[in-house]
Amino acid sequence: NKVVLAYSGGLDTSIILKWLQDTYGCEVVTFTADIGQGEEVEPAREKAKQLGVSEIFIDDLREEFARDFVFPMFRANTVYEGQYLLGTSIARPLIAKRQIEIARHTGADAVAHGATGKGNDQVRFELGYYGLEPGIRVIAPWREWDLNSREKLLAYAEQHGIPIEGKKEGGGSPYSMDANLLHISYEGGVLEDPWAEPEEAMYRWSVSPEEAPDRPTYIEVDFAGGDPVAIDGERLSPGALLSRLNRLGMDNGIGRLDIVENRYVGMKSRGVYETPGGTILLEAHRAIESLTVDREAAHLKDTLMPRYAELIYNGYWWAPERRMLQAAIDESQTNVHGTVRLKLYKGNVTVVGRSSESSLYNPELATFEEDTVYDQADAEGFIKLNALRLRVGQSVQGG
Ligand code: ARG
Ligand code: SIN
Repeated sequence: NKVVLAYSGGLDTSIILKWLQDTYGCEVVTFTADIGQGEEVEPAREKAKQLGVSEIFIDDLREEFARDFVFPMFRANTVYEGQYLLGTSIARPLIAKRQIEIARHTGADAVAHGATGKGNDQVRFELGYYGLEPGIRVIAPWREWDLNSREKLLAYAEQHGIPIEGKKEGGGSPYSMDANLLHISYEGGVLEDPWAEPEEAMYRWSVSPEEAPDRPTYIEVDFAGGDPVAIDGERLSPGALLSRLNRLGMDNGIGRLDIVENRYVGMKSRGVYETPGGTILLEAHRAIESLTVDREAAHLKDTLMPRYAELIYNGYWWAPERRMLQAAIDESQTNVHGTVRLKLYKGNVTVVGRSSESSLYNPELATFEEDTVYDQADAEGFIKLNALRLRVGQSVQGG
């Protein structure tokens, strides 16, 4: 009888709002979040009011998103299929969590979202809902209604007096887009041809590397406990820090990615992403770990990372296996403090320096000069024992 809708204020979710009221005769509670998508969220209040909604929730979740989702994920240097920084994937569990909180608060027995039946997002939202509130009822209009074309949607909107300004989410953009503090994504339209290069005008979050300044920008990022805490010596909150990195990345043409990825629901899909700040953060984090994490711990977390990335991509943030891996990853970060110096230049992020008070790098050990701590004669036995099975094998099998 009451449903909490993840409401952007755009045309599609406005239609969903109306459709829920008509089809289920239920009261709709709207929830709109600022997760750094770069669009005003307040207009959603007026639109929801116009559509007869009385319980309207608008939350600024940017800090929570950066602190409790993005940063924990970056502690693992997480990338899906070698490249995707999971910008959309990591935002879904937060939206699901907040929606469930609002459902509890307002006494709603159902939640609804605007993801289609062909994508990953429906899975991520709903695994989140069920993982946090086992008895919740889920409504996914895109899987139920017959408004399966742009024309039908527009006709429905017209019929029900839903204002059609910017035409569709993204102000008439021909792409399906999703944006938050970590990234912006583009899918659909001409991108459905994996051979077709996107036009330069598609990109909203970065100058092209060709147009980026001819002089490099140097920055320093400080880390504490595996998370970035300051840029150029200025301490910043997680949300502010990620925004600052975004600005730096955007201005230098950093973080563009054009891939074909495997969706959890089975199909391959072409996606283009801009993750300016995240791309810098990934390089910086790897660099600070290179000084501060033990070899075997580092290699082990590297082998776990693809599993962890897959869990997040597939929507299992609130699952026991994700929490378990997170505990291991977090444990690996206790010594990850220090500063990384980076050079940003025409789409590239280059680490040029790193330093740490908790560094495991020992110049005395690494030096090629005369040293006293490492006895080169020890290496002979080390190599001989490791060669033992190679020698036995060779003498038995030959070849
Ligand atoms: N393919 C990406 C992912 O699965 C981006 C999805 C974008 N979502 C959207 N509603 N446009 O994470
Ligand atoms: C959607 O289908 O809603 C967007 C694409 C995706 O979730 O993968």
